[in-house]
Amino acid sequence: MDKRPIGVFDSGLGGLTAIRSLREILPEEDLIYFGDTSRVPYGGRSRETILKYARQDVRFLRSFDLKAILIACGTVSTTSLPTLQAENDLPMVGVVEPTCRRAAAVTKNKRVGMIATQASVRAGAYAKALAELDPEIQVFSKACPLFVPLVENGRFRKGDAVIETVAREYLASMQEMGVDTLILGCTHYPLLEEIIGGVMGPEVELVSAGEESAFELKRLLKAGELRNSEDRQGDATYYVSDRVESFEETASWFLREDLRHGANQIDIDRY
Ligand code: DGL
Repeated sequence: MDKRPIGVFDSGLGGLTAIRSLREILPEEDLIYFGDTSRVPYGGRSRETILKYARQDVRFLRSFDLKAILIACGTVSTTSLPTLQAENDLPMVGVVEPTCRRAAAVTKNKRVGMIATQASVRAGAYAKALAELDPEIQVFSKACPLFVPLVENGRFRKGDAVIETVAREYLASMQEMGVDTLILGCTHYPLLEEIIGGVMGPEVELVSAGEESAFELKRLLKAGELRNSEDRQGDATYYVSDRVESFEETASWFLREDLRHGANQIDIDRY
């Protein structure tokens, strides 16, 4: 048994999709979340800048005694995971492999769409992982750079004309390609699940990066005998690098629970 918390991070609100899954499938675990809200979005930045930010995020999280880290960010996972794993002596899970395994298992016509940030599409990590799993799968990738800023600004609810228009434009090519599976390769996108699902229609299966990586982490903790005692209720603590108010509002709405201790603001430049 290991009582230490699990660290989870993202550039902003997106990693909450992994937190929601972790709270469901590992309710006994304590979670420490960091959202780098002062520097979001990461997705339009260079690989070097993303790695620099990710290293600081990891250093902040490691100021706690953690047993594992979940990188709940597609952009960091696609550009920086091997480097971060090599630099850190604790289990670290990214979102790419678990998400691709699920997508490969789900697709029937072997036409898989993948939407993510520009940095993730450029990195090509999802397409590479899918090709290794099943060379017959055809992958259609599309960067959707406006999704993250819109989500961070609270524009993710059904009926919002701005997000619905943007989604229709971004997803038109996916509809034309006849994909039967769509990877939401950025952890912000499950907040848009209703909108994206509404455009793509019920016959297209949406595979969420945050959710699949939470299952992967569970398997890893079990294999390493790192789980906490199952008869306890775990807690989640939230840190952000900018104002807490808007984060708290969206976080409690999305997680469907009040943040018990509120969120805390930290200065990420100190790490
Ligand atoms: N949630 C991050 C991801 O999964 C968003 C990246 C960004 O900040 O642009 O890629």
